[in-house]
Amino acid sequence: MLNMMRRPHVTAPMLAEGLEALGLNGHQHVIVHASLRSFGQVEGGAATLLHELLTHSTTLVAPSFTYATLLRSPTSSIYATFQRDTRVSRDIGRIPQLMVERPDALRSFHPALSFVAIGQQARAVTDAQSLTNPYGPIGTLYDLDAVSLLLGVDHSSNTSLHYGEYLAGVPLLTRYVPLGGSVVPIAFPNCSADFENIAPHLHGIHASVGRAQLGAYRVRDLVDGVRHFLSAHPDGLLCNYAACRCQEVRRTLRSAGLTPRAHRAAVQDAPQVGR
Ligand SMILES: CC(C)(COP(=O)(O)OP(=O)(O)OC[C@H]1O[C@@H](n2cnc3c(N)ncnc32)[C@H](O)[C@@H]1OP(=O)(O)O)[C@@H](O)C(=O)NCCC(=O)NCCS
Ligand SMILES: [Zn+2]
Repeated sequence: MLNMMRRPHVTAPMLAEGLEALGLNGHQHVIVHASLRSFGQVEGGAATLLHELLTHSTTLVAPSFTYATLLRSPTSSIYATFQRDTRVSRDIGRIPQLMVERPDALRSFHPALSFVAIGQQARAVTDAQSLTNPYGPIGTLYDLDAVSLLLGVDHSSNTSLHYGEYLAGVPLLTRYVPLGGSVVPIAFPNCSADFENIAPHLHGIHASVGRAQLGAYRVRDLVDGVRHFLSAHPDGLLCNYAACRCQEVRRTLRSAGLTPRAHRAAVQDAPQVGR
């Protein structure tokens, strides 16, 4: 009971005020990364936060990743398949899951790294993904001059930074996913545990609501900031945990260096799933 009382009570108008303090007026394209719990006790729960996000954006996007589909070997015979309504991984959160549950949401086809989007540019965002360019939707958000919102989370949740790595030419790993009745290779990135390393080089707008620290960053600043940072420190966003796949990326990076990739607005080879 005492614990409950210490959690600040957060209402819809408080959330609206916080989003407006971040510069959101309903006209921006937004990608959101959120922790509901970080706010305290939100009246009406995730639905209230999602409603305010939709009211304050013209396109709302979120990662809706489903890591259970990932396979390390192309010969794996036991796997989870991906469909339009497959549950979002718990560590991606309740807000993307609620978005997926809405009939007006589009979800990209990628069995492991799908994005969900609602609003004006939802199709342009979800169509811009391929197996070799999993962060293509961030490329569209870059072109749209979108905003990346961090609500009670830090840059380790900031997916847009992965697109900066992609353009900078950080090596991608190969993993496998079930797709269209077979198991196919996909490009898969290093982890994001140490993405806070770039925080001192980024400029955002900050606010707080309840107990949560909120940040808003232009996707362009994130992507270009990562490219610039990695040109001086190619392995500067890789973690040092010995068992992490980041060490495999680091080894390839040491032997092959960065191989920059082109920014392309749209990609054609995205199959459609359930729509
Ligand atoms: C991992 C992460 C989702 C955990 O945050 P979280 O606040 O615990 O989880 P969610 O946002 O899913 O919210 C659900 C939790 O909110 C809490 N909650 C439930 N009702 C609530 C309410 N009314 N008010 C506040 N919190 C509430 C509960 O603890 C619930 O967890 P439970 O279902 O296990 O009980 C978050 O830290 C994060 O990283 N989000 C961004 C993910 C992302 O975009 N990653 C990109 C990968 S590159
Ligand atoms: Zn790592």
